[in-house]
Amino acid sequence: MDDYLAALDFASTDPRDAADAEGTEGLVDAMRHSLLAGGKRIRPVLCLATAASLGEPAERMLPSAAALELIHTYSLIHDDLPAMDDDDLRRGRPTCHVVYGEDTAILAGDALFAEAVRLVCERQEGGPAVKVRILAELSLATGVTGMVGGQYLDLNDAGRESPEALARVHALKTGRLMAAAVHCGLALSPPAPEVDAAYRAFARELGLLFQIVDDILDVAGTEEDLGKAVGADARRGKVTYVSLHGLAGARALAEQTHGRARALLETIPGDVAELIDITDLVYARDN
Ligand code: IPE
Ligand code: IPE
Ligand code: MG
Ligand code: MG
Ligand code: MG
Repeated sequence: MDDYLAALDFASTDPRDAADAEGTEGLVDAMRHSLLAGGKRIRPVLCLATAASLGEPAERMLPSAAALELIHTYSLIHDDLPAMDDDDLRRGRPTCHVVYGEDTAILAGDALFAEAVRLVCERQEGGPAVKVRILAELSLATGVTGMVGGQYLDLNDAGRESPEALARVHALKTGRLMAAAVHCGLALSPPAPEVDAAYRAFARELGLLFQIVDDILDVAGTEEDLGKAVGADARRGKVTYVSLHGLAGARALAEQTHGRARALLETIPGDVAELIDITDLVYARDN
């Protein structure tokens, strides 16, 4: 996955358009600064592992897996901007806007989203129907009822009212894109409806688990392990699983969510060993 991402140069595939890239090197540098900074790559690996559980060679899903990581990286660049979380450290590096300026960081995020769409259009195997299905999953997971809508709710402190409201903010801002990784992994060999439903239920639980653990690590993790600032949620007075349930309460909810995700995997036929590993890693991670 890392090799595939590192090889992306975002140049035009048509030599006649080569001159159009002239002068955009700084933008591409900013995109690569954040993309190639050593994230965990959980979303792309989840996509590949889902495809593999259905007997698909992982290589066939690489473009869509990379697209998920591009969209995720775009969300991180924008999440760190002064207008949002105002963070200086990400993936162990100074954030995009610290190095390249806010203007370029905004554009780098925008470009990563568009380049994700282009990757699927130009490189994903499986024909037009598969591409449209994947693009639909990615856009739904990113838009108003996905990551961007969730970020909006998060910034406006929605989720204060009740545990259910907070779970919804988490599901949108983080869960939907994580779930899209599983959904995209189903696209080449769609399973029977009841198996599809089990994968989707698993994906929902895993996405929620991921953000519960992110909230816990903001309190219990270290800057060195995480490659990003800790304690930032409390400093900003953010509503999180920890602020709402306490650290022990958040840990108990993570344990329950992990248990539900694991139980759903047991209902899925096929070789789900890698999905089990990823689920355990999301639960037990310290970075
Ligand atoms: C962090 O995501 C932001 C959230 C969505 C909670 P990751 O923890 O997957 O970040 P990277 O990709 O490893 O840097
Ligand atoms: C942001 O959640 C999730 C997205 C980037 C969509 P956080 O703001 O908690 O992520 P971190 O903790 O900065 O990685
Ligand atoms: Mg945020
Ligand atoms: Mg943040
Ligand atoms: Mg966080």
